[in-house]
Amino acid sequence: MTVEQTSDETLDETSEEKKPKRLSRSTPMGMVAAARYPDQSDRQTVANGIRDQDADLVIGHLTPTSYKTESVCGIDLKLEPLSPSLGTVVHGIDLDRDIRHPEIVEFLREIWLERRVVMFREQQHLTRDGLIRFAECFGELGAHHGERDHVPSGPRTPDGYPDILPIQSGEKHPGAASEWHSDATWSSRPPMGSILICREAPPVGGDTNFCDGYGLWEGVSRETKARIKTMQAVHIGQPHHAMDGHIPEAVHPVARTHPETGRTVLFVNRVFTRRFADEHGLDDIQTQSLLQELFANIGRPEVTCRFRWGVGSVAMWDNRAVQHCATADFWPHRRLMERVTILDSDVARRTPYLALSDEA
Ligand SMILES: [Fe+2]
Repeated sequence: MTVEQTSDETLDETSEEKKPKRLSRSTPMGMVAAARYPDQSDRQTVANGIRDQDADLVIGHLTPTSYKTESVCGIDLKLEPLSPSLGTVVHGIDLDRDIRHPEIVEFLREIWLERRVVMFREQQHLTRDGLIRFAECFGELGAHHGERDHVPSGPRTPDGYPDILPIQSGEKHPGAASEWHSDATWSSRPPMGSILICREAPPVGGDTNFCDGYGLWEGVSRETKARIKTMQAVHIGQPHHAMDGHIPEAVHPVARTHPETGRTVLFVNRVFTRRFADEHGLDDIQTQSLLQELFANIGRPEVTCRFRWGVGSVAMWDNRAVQHCATADFWPHRRLMERVTILDSDVARRTPYLALSDEA
């Protein structure tokens, strides 16, 4: 199980089958459910009430959308920015057919590097093989958590597709990866990118949010930048990332140089970054104080964009330059996603580093 997968969280306050199950308000899913259907604590009543509220929703296109037009290989594209600094939805492309054109792949890679996240809609015809073919246009296909020597023993994958990670939530499994993180930074060589396709979407909710790592670095004070520029942080996986009984951990630079853009990223996240390397000599109070300072801007609306999923929506993010989190607000509806990871074809660029020219 990964942070993207269903967690062990439950909305049940009792596991006894014969008693009415009560709704727990202590999880994000429970908080939202309670706010939507107040004055009720019976879990089934709340689930039914929310389904009734959402029963009349229909899919439509009601909001004004601003976009740029671009023609590549005779294919007319519309580029819709989701926020000023990151996230672009590319409309008018078929990810199964059009990636045969090298110019299209090159164009998508440029947008991906510039905007950190590139999204697509209505790609439900993309099979698992098609998803893998698309990923392989940009690098080497990773295992479901990146490097093949860092594969957790636990997750169940679809038959014949060991590299595809299913991420499933529903009434009985209400979890979602709703804390900000980059994928698998507990690995010594985390994935370069991740691609998520939506196979089943809730009628409302379950959006994924992305946060700009460049913006986070810019937001650090000059004094703190000077202090942390040569520091290393320890990233520790969760129990479900265990391999052969060992929970993985890795040490990475706090300030990371993006190997393709040359820009500096703040490379710490709330889920996996627990402390700083021993050589820095920080005690617990100093560690927590510095971590909280570095985490302070993560998730600020100004450095984030938000993507609403429909069946066939796809998001491909630069895992070196953004953090992401799901929105745990869609219980009791179902949400089914599939994820693949991409590794940099240049093996030397997979290990996070700080370029000498960036050091203080
Ligand atoms: Fe994730």
